[in-house]
Amino acid sequence: MGKIAVDIALLQQFEAGLDPRRPERSAIPARVLGYGEISTVIAMDHPAQADLAFKRMPMFRDEEEIVQYTRLYEEYVRVLQEDVGLRVAAGEMVHLPRTHAGHLVVYLVQERFPAGAIGNAIIHRLDAEERRQLVLAVLRELRKVFAFNREHRGRLELGIDGQISNWAVQPFDEAAGRPAGPYHLVYLDTTTPLLTREGVEQLNPELFLRSAPSFLVWLLRLLFLQDVMTRYYDFRKVIIDLIANFYKEQLPEMVPALVETANEFLAGEAADFQLSPLRVQEIRSYYQEDAWIWRLYLAFRTVDRELHHLTGRHYPYILPPAIRR
Ligand SMILES: Nc1ncnc2c1ncn2[C@@H]1O[C@H](COP(=O)(O)OP(=O)(O)O)[C@@H](O)[C@H]1O
Ligand SMILES: [Mg+2]
Repeated sequence: MGKIAVDIALLQQFEAGLDPRRPERSAIPARVLGYGEISTVIAMDHPAQADLAFKRMPMFRDEEEIVQYTRLYEEYVRVLQEDVGLRVAAGEMVHLPRTHAGHLVVYLVQERFPAGAIGNAIIHRLDAEERRQLVLAVLRELRKVFAFNREHRGRLELGIDGQISNWAVQPFDEAAGRPAGPYHLVYLDTTTPLLTREGVEQLNPELFLRSAPSFLVWLLRLLFLQDVMTRYYDFRKVIIDLIANFYKEQLPEMVPALVETANEFLAGEAADFQLSPLRVQEIRSYYQEDAWIWRLYLAFRTVDRELHHLTGRHYPYILPPAIRR
């Protein structure tokens, strides 16, 4: 960390002129690089900040929440880097003063990777064998996290979202759109710092629920939160999630080969975890359920945005257009 040169005055100006409904038409135009559970990832159309990615989080209620969240983020990244041995994208939390609409917005400003270097883009440029190798490289990174968790069980454990879109390949040859020779992986998705200490989750789940429509919060709390918050601590589920990405990426033909790769890994390098082999059918049903849940959730958020609009309330979140899954 620490090699990020954020222009805070410019970021403040950016936030003040942001149109969350049409970010590309903001005073300082923005391009959305990705949508997530907790943040929206933005690239600013401004020459001075072109090498940065801005992860916008508008859900904080008070300073205390921001301080806690920032502390947790810093600890999460430190443990991942220093104790687990992952490479994590360099980043800095920037906390802006309250906006006119009354929102407290925090940005995680990260070094930005070329769009083509992110896992979900690069898989479309690789052949089947190279994709298998990439997934194996992700499995090896994940193994480090779960070995750490096992060693610190009940004291300190980290959750990780192993999705292919959470890793960047480095070094990357932009002209060729491929890795520049042997590569390593850099983990990007640090805005959800899942960390349990003495078995207690340290990330405030309310932060997720804030961005949900108020008419759904009770339902999400009841049905959903427990599963979402715990699945990232389960090595086997994280692997299922990773392979299921290939359905989302319209590469379903890869799934059987990747299941085989994962099963070889589980029987070999990761045999000490004693996880049962994966089955293609279980990946498929997981994906179908997951895709359905997210599609429904997004539909409800869009309805909520309309309700805010109709009743003259400011809606602070940037929502994705309907996506194909
Ligand atoms: N540092 C970065 N550089 C370039 N693109 C990024 C960067 N961080 C995130 N993205 C893009 O935004 C997407 C979502 O970001 P991520 O941090 O995974 O958040 P979440 O999954 O919670 O939305 C990524 O899959 C990637 O495409
Ligand atoms: Mg992600």
